[in-house]
Amino acid sequence: MLIDFQQLPPRDSYPWLIGSINPRPIAWVATISSAGRTNLAPFSFFQGVCASPPTLLFTGANDRHGRKKDTIVNVEQVPEFVVNIVPYALREPMNQTSAPLPHGESEFERFGIAAAPSARIRPPRVAESPVAFECKVDRIVRVGEGPLAGNIVIGTVLCAHVSESVLDAEGHLDPRKLDTIGRMGGDFYTRTTELFTIRRPG
Ligand SMILES: Cc1cc2nc3c(=O)[nH]c(=O)nc-3n(C[C@H](O)[C@H](O)[C@H](O)COP(=O)(O)O)c2cc1C
Repeated sequence: MLIDFQQLPPRDSYPWLIGSINPRPIAWVATISSAGRTNLAPFSFFQGVCASPPTLLFTGANDRHGRKKDTIVNVEQVPEFVVNIVPYALREPMNQTSAPLPHGESEFERFGIAAAPSARIRPPRVAESPVAFECKVDRIVRVGEGPLAGNIVIGTVLCAHVSESVLDAEGHLDPRKLDTIGRMGGDFYTRTTELFTIRRPG
């Protein structure tokens, strides 16, 4: 079976992409508007980029009317954001924050999610997230235009807040303690409790 993306409307391409490119890590992104209103939303088009400088990216797609999501509007106004890592224990509040609230209404306040101040930037972080990366926007790359087009936000990581509860005896992140979740296709998620190791050659 051949799926011809050049013939497919964007909305029909989407399930083939997210159903195959998985599991995807989830960036729970906190931002702030120039008016000082906070915002929190999950993004699974999310990846690390490189370590020098420490860099990550996430993509906020335009909505079906071609409008930018609040997160993108905010990073254009205040070019700073926090990526909060999502463990299994935070799956429900994370999902709540994907609701389309009116611009300016804070998901922190609406869903009673505790915020903690960031050290170097204005948007707060999620207090209960075990790892939170404070980032400043390096650049925003537009891909396509109109409904479902992408806004890739590339950020330089300034610092990270790491809970000692997710470290092993040597002080390294322990994946069993971190217990991150990944997004699959549809409403499916995966948990990272079934681990295996493979030694790299050389
Ligand atoms: C687990 C999960 C992952 C998501 N990933 C993305 C994504 O990568 N890009 C995107 O544009 N929307 C994604 N969404 C949808 C947004 O979270 C949703 O549109 C949200 O309302 C955007 O919030 P904002 O308008 O406050 O920025 C995801 C939703 C969930 C639940």
